[in-house]
Amino acid sequence: MMPINHNHGQIMKKELVSLPVISDARGNLTFIEGNNHVPFEIKRVYYLYNIPIGKTRGGHAHKKLEQVIIAISGSLNVTLDDGITKNTFHLDNPKQGLYVGPATWRDMDGFSSGTVALVLASRSYEVDDYIRNYDEFIEFVKNARGTQ
Ligand code: TYD
Repeated sequence: MMPINHNHGQIMKKELVSLPVISDARGNLTFIEGNNHVPFEIKRVYYLYNIPIGKTRGGHAHKKLEQVIIAISGSLNVTLDDGITKNTFHLDNPKQGLYVGPATWRDMDGFSSGTVALVLASRSYEVDDYIRNYDEFIEFVKNARGTQ
């Protein structure tokens, strides 16, 4: 998974999570433990599949939610935006995850046919945790920085 960088050559490696692989003549096995391979307790799991070619997903941020996205099969592009910097990651490897922290706008596109994207999440589905308006997201980020 290579980050495609929009920010003066600076690569944000902290987003990439390497997952364990047990490989033998019978094939591969990857496992994920909360608070071990991903930096949070896993509260919820969902997956994106049957995504028509050319369709986009995401287009929002979360106030508190942490997630890891894994291309279990196929490939997609995920663009992460912290309000200042945008980085696009091409996910095509089931042994690598992409960590998406709170206050990070994400856009997903370029789904290849048959892609299954697994998402591990730190919290239950909470409609109030979503920020779906980009201007509100920028305000949220500014306020969050102001209180740090
Ligand atoms: P959304 O998070 O916008 O999906 P994506 O970021 O992949 O484009 O969710 C799409 C719809 O599914 C929205 O109506 C909320 C609903 N949903 C749930 O009910 N529970 C969940 O855990 C998730 C992730 C979404």
